[in-house]
Amino acid sequence: MIKYSPEIAKVTDPLFEKVKNVIPSVEWPIMAPLIYRINELKTEKNAVVLAHNYQTPDIYHCVADFVGDSLQLAMQAQQIDADIIVQAGVHFMAETSKLLSPDKTVLIPSLDAGCSLAASITGEDVRQLKRKYPGVPVVTYVNTSAGVKAEADVCCTSANAIAVVEAFGVDRVILLPDEFLSKNVAAQTDVEIIAWKGRCEVHERFTAEELRQYRKSSPGISILAHPECSPEVLEEADFAGSTSSLIRYVNVNRPPKVMMVTECSMSDNVSAEIGEDVEFIRPCNLCPHMKTINLQNIIESLELIRYEVTIPEDISSRARQAVQGMIDLEVEGKDFEQRSVLRGVVVEDRLSLSPLDTVSQ
Ligand code: 13P
Ligand code: SF4
Repeated sequence: MIKYSPEIAKVTDPLFEKVKNVIPSVEWPIMAPLIYRINELKTEKNAVVLAHNYQTPDIYHCVADFVGDSLQLAMQAQQIDADIIVQAGVHFMAETSKLLSPDKTVLIPSLDAGCSLAASITGEDVRQLKRKYPGVPVVTYVNTSAGVKAEADVCCTSANAIAVVEAFGVDRVILLPDEFLSKNVAAQTDVEIIAWKGRCEVHERFTAEELRQYRKSSPGISILAHPECSPEVLEEADFAGSTSSLIRYVNVNRPPKVMMVTECSMSDNVSAEIGEDVEFIRPCNLCPHMKTINLQNIIESLELIRYEVTIPEDISSRARQAVQGMIDLEVEGKDFEQRSVLRGVVVEDRLSLSPLDTVSQ
């Protein structure tokens, strides 16, 4: 373990400048040697770190080469000129990078970096749904395993979900697996949506009542919500969109007081960048999966070249088509506008898809 030294201080001081309003100075002598070592290893191994907007500021601001929402990271993965990609995010993001950069070594620093949405559905569930709704296009959120993507016509992210659903030009689309995202998309389009009962364990915890209380106690607050929150929460918000749309909203509008109804680290990352102009009110929820990634296991992943993400060829070719299809659509992302009339959405789950049911269709 390298010790904090004048040499390390000199190299890392400019990085501390970027994060000093969100990382206490007493913690820096512990973090700085780890950050220094990661940046050294990246050069030695010709590696890059792709970090999602939910990563902690030490990773996001001090070791990441590229940051962004799921769509931006997927697009970035395709263009990377390096031998190794370290995904500072969750497993489905690392799989997406591997799909789009099959010749590169893709590492995920923690095997526990899962996702409740990705865990909610399997490839077999999608096959059963397709038998129940023959001919209905299947769109899967990127927050799914490669096995689920392999069964889809195309993928989407929260940044482009409405546009992807509308791109088919049909009346009915299956949109999996996030029940809330699907309901929020359904409220923005005339396309009938068939959903799946998956939930993001971070965003499902926010309630509309909680938001109303914050509005009362912080007059003038701007409330920005991610579309993995419930439709009731979105109705209470001033703006909704992907993580990058929420960041853009703060950068452009500079609201004096803002609440980002999403994972906790987002507010820290934006606050570090934007300074004192904007006050962040933080009733946030942590994603336990995102938080399994830390400086120490990023070092280990680079030193030991572990844990490498691999996808069986029969799955990867079909899953790649679904992700590439989304990128090739080049649809403009649409933000979630305020709408008060919510449409009914059929929400399927494993019970509603028992083999007997599907045989009788
Ligand atoms: P986006 O960054 O694509 O909005 O996704 C949010 C999320 O929950 C990723 O796990
Ligand atoms: Fe999955 Fe939600 Fe965590 Fe994103 S925030 S990785 S959707 S559990």
